[in-house]
Amino acid sequence: MASLIHLLLCSSLAMTMAVAATFYQDFDLTWGDGRAKILNNGQLLTLSLDRTSGSGFQSKKEFLFGKIDMQLKLVPGNSAGTVTAYYLSSQGPTHDEIDFEFLGNLTGDPYTLHTNVYTQGKGNREMQFKLWFDPTKDFHAYSVLWNPRHVIFMVDGTPIRDFKNLESRGIPFPKNQPMRIYSSLWNADDWATRGGLVKTNWNNAPFTASYRNFNADACVWSSGISSCAPRNSSSAVPAAARGWWSQELDTPSQDRMRWVQKNYMIYHYCTDLKRFPQGFPPECSMT
Ligand SMILES: *[C@@H]1O[C@H](CO)[C@@H](O)[C@H](O)[C@H]1NC(C)=O
Ligand SMILES: *[C@@H]1O[C@H](CO)[C@@H](O)[C@H](O)[C@H]1NC(C)=O
Repeated sequence: MASLIHLLLCSSLAMTMAVAATFYQDFDLTWGDGRAKILNNGQLLTLSLDRTSGSGFQSKKEFLFGKIDMQLKLVPGNSAGTVTAYYLSSQGPTHDEIDFEFLGNLTGDPYTLHTNVYTQGKGNREMQFKLWFDPTKDFHAYSVLWNPRHVIFMVDGTPIRDFKNLESRGIPFPKNQPMRIYSSLWNADDWATRGGLVKTNWNNAPFTASYRNFNADACVWSSGISSCAPRNSSSAVPAAARGWWSQELDTPSQDRMRWVQKNYMIYHYCTDLKRFPQGFPPECSMT
């Protein structure tokens, strides 16, 4: 009974969130001494970076699985040297992490979208893309679909990367550690743009990235209990989870992902011989 009441409470809270979610309710501004701002009655968040500091925020809640959407508009103009990171991460030395990182560039040169997946503290699974639009002109949606079988990265609803659960073949998958959402804007001109050749031009500071339309259709983790926990051990499908829990890419979506990877992918760790002279990571031969 107690867990039923808990579930009912959670679902009514979730409904309230869907109607009136604001950045005030969902996020804490964690660093940057006033350079991170929530505006427009909580509908808009901006991060900025100047010579003194960058800035960042994190979600108040932790999640264990979900479909998490955010719209970002990246630093316009000459953003070379800047990095906007938007990611999910758990805590500790064996943490899991799901990363989007946007590496700035000179005016007119393309941003690089860098992605990575850490499991049990180990990453080294970078895939990088160019985008098929200018990510600084308008807001675009960057989403993570994270369920027990897939971590799917999406841009405006188009899947760009599918990290599959290959646990049965010995590859760890993020499924036990709740994660928070983090974002930051910072100076990384020692490596970000053309491998560190192009430095941040501080005459253009402050640099600003903007966020809106956050939505988490997700299992919230709190005091060791998931809001998606089944009411009893015999019910197989978590009560609060909707379509995303068992979602995977259908054939048209796989085709679209292949189109992106063929035309816009600029780096895949599974083809970087220089980096893995002793052989590629095991998952590289499993797809
Ligand atoms: C920046 O633009 C250059 C030239 O088009 C390109 O080689 C590079 O990959 C772009 N992105 C970054 C992050 O350097
Ligand atoms: C457990 O959940 C299943 C599926 O929701 C339901 O059919 C069953 O009656 C439940 N059992 C108990 C003891 O509540």
